[in-house]
Amino acid sequence: MTESYCDSPTIASGPNWLSQVSIREITNDDLPALEWDGEYSHLRKVYAHAFQAHKSGKAILWVAALPETGIIGQIFLQLISDRFELADGIDRAHIYSFRIKPEYRGFGLGSRMLDEAESFLLSLSFRYITLNVAKKNHKAQNLYERFGYQIISHESGCWSYLDEKGVWRDVEEPAWRMQKTLS
Ligand SMILES: CC(C)(COP(=O)(O)OP(=O)(O)OC[C@H]1O[C@@H](n2cnc3c(N)ncnc32)[C@H](O)[C@@H]1OP(=O)(O)O)[C@@H](O)C(=O)NCCC(=O)NCCS
Repeated sequence: MTESYCDSPTIASGPNWLSQVSIREITNDDLPALEWDGEYSHLRKVYAHAFQAHKSGKAILWVAALPETGIIGQIFLQLISDRFELADGIDRAHIYSFRIKPEYRGFGLGSRMLDEAESFLLSLSFRYITLNVAKKNHKAQNLYERFGYQIISHESGCWSYLDEKGVWRDVEEPAWRMQKTLS
């Protein structure tokens, strides 16, 4: 037998694993875990840059962590950026790099993180949240619509970054800009 019930995160961490998840600010020691055992190593410098923004107060990076397992999700909140239409540091903030490890998806953790992010941003007096979702990512779009986000514009999704080897990579992922008014 090659598979067992222990392969299921619900069983492996107990039926209450969700209640054991802590959502907290990232630390320097967490950065390697954002690479998900290599899958996101190409974003190492992007994450390092985001962490600098976190340290300077321009962004807040949260991770979801399980005792013993470690980091299983993340959500980044940009408070101010060069693109004021995304985050202006006054009343508009931007959510990005939101992801949960595949085996932990569909159990409500993403909804909880989004909910906590919204409450947190509201407590900082932000009134609008923007985010970009790839046009082909219908599942995530449904989640955002359920939360009250509406499409407000098209986003080309063209950007470039230096990968972990110092090589420029170009990305083109057409997206919808969505926005929610907090109340
Ligand atoms: C989007 C995401 C963060 C949601 O986290 P989650 O823990 O699965 O979210 P929840 O369990 O609270 O809610 C699941 C909802 O998200 C939707 N969803 C989106 N992508 C999903 C996926 N890959 N697997 C399961 N559900 C997904 C489901 O349709 C579900 O909607 P429903 O409640 O109406 O059935 C997570 O699925 C994920 O990491 N997806 C891949 C990365 C991604 O698309 N990030 C968003 C970029 S804009």
